[in-house]
Amino acid sequence: PKAVFIDAKGGEFELDVPVGQTLMEAATDAMLDGIIGECGGVMSCATCHVYVDPAWVTKLQPADDIEESMIDVAREPQENSRLSCQITMSEELDGIVVHMPRSQF
Ligand code: FES
Repeated sequence: PKAVFIDAKGGEFELDVPVGQTLMEAATDAMLDGIIGECGGVMSCATCHVYVDPAWVTKLQPADDIEESMIDVAREPQENSRLSCQITMSEELDGIVVHMPRSQF
């Protein structure tokens, strides 16, 4: 499956993401500037914050309390904010579009 990452300047990056890999891992492997993933995916950094495209929000499992509280400390959180280390690729998410914030800390 593929995921599309759009940066704050409108640049689009389409990545192949194997099922079971998180979007944070895929983005850091590809060294996309917009996602840092400092904590390695244990929900303690919020530098993997993304805005999920509205068309895809309801296809994801809702964020749990820990994720919610980390999103609160991310920069400029919005309704569609998620941590990309908590979005695990599946066949259903093929084509998912996420927007990267202007900056991650
Ligand atoms: Fe640190 Fe997602 S990688 S919270």
